[in-house]
Amino acid sequence: MTNPIISIETQLQILQTAAVTAIAEAINLEQIEQLRVNYLGKKGELSVILKGMGKLSAEERPRIGSIANEVKELLQGKLDEKRQDLQQAQIKAKLEAETLDVTMPGVSRPLGRIHPLNSTIDRVLDIFTGLGYTVAEGPQIETDYYNFEALNTPPDHPARDMQDTFYLPGGNLLRTHTSSVQIRYMENNEPPIRVVAPGRVYRRDTVDATHSAVFHQVELLAVDKGLTFTDLKGTIKEFIRQFFGDDLPTLFRASYFPFTEPSAEVDVQWKGKWLEVMGCGMVDPNVLKAVGYDPEIYTGFAAGFGVERFAMVLHQIDDIRRLYNSDLRFLKQF
Ligand code: DAH
Repeated sequence: MTNPIISIETQLQILQTAAVTAIAEAINLEQIEQLRVNYLGKKGELSVILKGMGKLSAEERPRIGSIANEVKELLQGKLDEKRQDLQQAQIKAKLEAETLDVTMPGVSRPLGRIHPLNSTIDRVLDIFTGLGYTVAEGPQIETDYYNFEALNTPPDHPARDMQDTFYLPGGNLLRTHTSSVQIRYMENNEPPIRVVAPGRVYRRDTVDATHSAVFHQVELLAVDKGLTFTDLKGTIKEFIRQFFGDDLPTLFRASYFPFTEPSAEVDVQWKGKWLEVMGCGMVDPNVLKAVGYDPEIYTGFAAGFGVERFAMVLHQIDDIRRLYNSDLRFLKQF
């Protein structure tokens, strides 16, 4: 791009001005490299201008040569400087994009909780397993035999009125209590027996603040040689002491259940009120006979209670329906 009319010195000045501007305006490292090649490369503009040096006089040549060197060094410096700036900017942008700000508040993931009914059952099972009991379960769909008959409650027995039953087509029923598990367990095991059986039970009750057609019970059964009502009382009192964390006054009130003789209901004094919390008694000899145990050799005690009742008392819950309607505002409190 030599121009014979314009002197080499001027050409060098024009090149320098143009190059400095172009370098200043470069926005990335590729452009810088391109500018280096264009201006200072072997076939770059500077080399092209210097080709004209041959025509210069011997005096002029060193002067122009040193000007050309200055231009070359200056442009080299500008290119290096700009390259460093761009590299720094690139690193900075990368750091900013990848920065993890540990001071930012985290995204909180809501934790699940144990439902108060389950935690109550867990608490009950912990206490009884601690007393040497094993956990047993039975089916929710039962036959009349396990729910009533084997529990000394034949078809015309007036006690059937105590529990309004859901009957299923075909003659089965939804168990009205966990006492059915007593029979199933005894049929498959020999004494001595210490067993605790939690589970869901069903009754044709009208739903209100204290009644539900579906609720939960825990059944207790011990069969051994020489068990007495004193063992029953001691076990229940120890359970209540551990469950409520206090030696609360308890009252064993005479009662009636077809599958126990004698039978009792247990009242506990809690926050100044007597609360009925469970039914219990010595296993009726007819029940032992039904599973093939000899009542002359073995005696047993049993108890059954509602889990909802215990959960409501423990957590001061005023309406049983709160335990079933899955309202997170309620459940988050536990
Ligand atoms: N099954 C009885 C009910 O649902 C509760 C009960 C009473 C269970 C006395 C027992 C017992 O094991 O001995 O009302």
